[in-house]
Amino acid sequence: MACVCCVLDTILVAGYLGGSVILPSGADPTTKLVAIRWSIYNNVTFIATFSEGEFRNKYWKYKDRLELNTTTGDLEIKYLQADDDLRYTVLLEHPNNLERHNYVTLTVREKLRTPSIHIISRSLKDGFCTISLSCTSEDNVTLSWKPEQGFSERYLSGKPNQSSNEAVLWTSFSPNRNITFSCTATDGDLKEGKKHNLKCQGMSVISHPKSS
Ligand SMILES: *[C@@H]1O[C@H](CO)[C@@H](O)[C@H](O)[C@H]1NC(C)=O
Ligand SMILES: *[C@@H]1O[C@H](CO)[C@@H](O)[C@H](O)[C@H]1NC(C)=O
Ligand SMILES: *[C@@H]1O[C@H](CO)[C@@H](O)[C@H](O)[C@H]1NC(C)=O
Ligand SMILES: *[C@@H]1O[C@H](CO)[C@@H](O)[C@H](O)[C@H]1NC(C)=O
Ligand SMILES: *[C@@H]1O[C@H](CO)[C@@H](O)[C@H](O)[C@H]1NC(C)=O
Repeated sequence: MACVCCVLDTILVAGYLGGSVILPSGADPTTKLVAIRWSIYNNVTFIATFSEGEFRNKYWKYKDRLELNTTTGDLEIKYLQADDDLRYTVLLEHPNNLERHNYVTLTVREKLRTPSIHIISRSLKDGFCTISLSCTSEDNVTLSWKPEQGFSERYLSGKPNQSSNEAVLWTSFSPNRNITFSCTATDGDLKEGKKHNLKCQGMSVISHPKSS
């Protein structure tokens, strides 16, 4: 057997307790896979294997929690547990006895971190309060803005920069009201929110960050 490539790079992946995560196999998508073997504890324990057209997932600890994509070799782990926090090895077998190993280190976090809100701009002009708020997260999540009940004015929210985890809200509303906007971070399974209370009165805008 030939060792085509012996790159020892470890791919780092993070997931959350109770959530799911995909461990990328790192396989070259242009090469066919004839067998895929995912293991833990330095090759000792196979947790998911695919060979001769058959998928095996025998190890009790991962029972009913694994989904193997036999085209890409990627392994999805569902309902993440704290002790899934391990280094995983994948052995990829290509035609002509070509083999390759890749390593993925999975970090399991307890929950999503609370997003942070900050004010980009605010003003009271022509009888309207105009504000723009930014919501950011340190996690790889989708962020979205929503006004709380009692706010029926139009608002815009969007992602100004595709490569950063930030959602910006723009809106204007009539003064002398208490208004709360909330930002929600989600990775598809888990959610974490943060609220921001704004009061725009007379000549000033008073804002109060609140945790939800
Ligand atoms: C796993 O086994 C392969 C050979 O089958 C070896 O090349 C690799 O170094 C082993 N990995 C570890 C972490 O021992
Ligand atoms: C495997 O991954 C490929 C590429 O991401 C995707 O197109 C395909 O639907 C996946 N197959 C399964 C069974 O999930
Ligand atoms: C962030 O999550 C998306 C979808 O869940 C995934 O495709 C992407 O690779 C992740 N990025 C990082 C840096 O983990
Ligand atoms: C977008 O965000 C990335 C990462 O935070 C940063 O490096 C880049 O300069 C930003 N681009 C713009 C146009 O703001
Ligand atoms: C506006 O909301 C803040 C924070 O919840 C509260 O302290 C304040 O009393 C409210 N003011 C009015 C006028 O409702």
